[in-house]
Amino acid sequence: MERTFAIIKPDAVERKITGKVLAKIEEAGFSIVGMKKIHLSKAQAEGFYYVHKERPFFNDLCAFMSRSPVVVLVLERENAIAKWREVMGATNPANAEPGTIRKEFGVSIEENSAHGSDAPETAAFEIPYFFSQLELV
Ligand code: CMP
Repeated sequence: MERTFAIIKPDAVERKITGKVLAKIEEAGFSIVGMKKIHLSKAQAEGFYYVHKERPFFNDLCAFMSRSPVVVLVLERENAIAKWREVMGATNPANAEPGTIRKEFGVSIEENSAHGSDAPETAAFEIPYFFSQLELV
């Protein structure tokens, strides 16, 4: 069993499609072992996305991620990291496969409805950024 970290981003929460994204998560066989709704500060978004701090989109991305609440999740199943990336689809919704979250719900490369860890080392940073051990069940 493997765990990955996921965010349902502000664009999806604002449009009230949190439940549709959660349905896709459960249909794909994930167990939700942690889940909460939070409103990130800009500084918290910057800390989370620090690996992108030199990218031209960093400031806009952190402003977007802190403009309204998100749902943060820890998902568990076999091969969770790769599987969640498959279920989300490509970063740019325009390039995502039909049926994926980003294809169905994403608005743009920035407002792409969902985030997922890209590697075990990333998940090992991202999960404890938001969750304590006691919150994972
Ligand atoms: P995410 O999986 O959350 O990881 C980093 C985010 O940066 C990514 O999803 C996109 O929302 C955003 N991103 C990546 N590339 C670009 C880009 N070229 N322009 C704007 N935002 C981007």
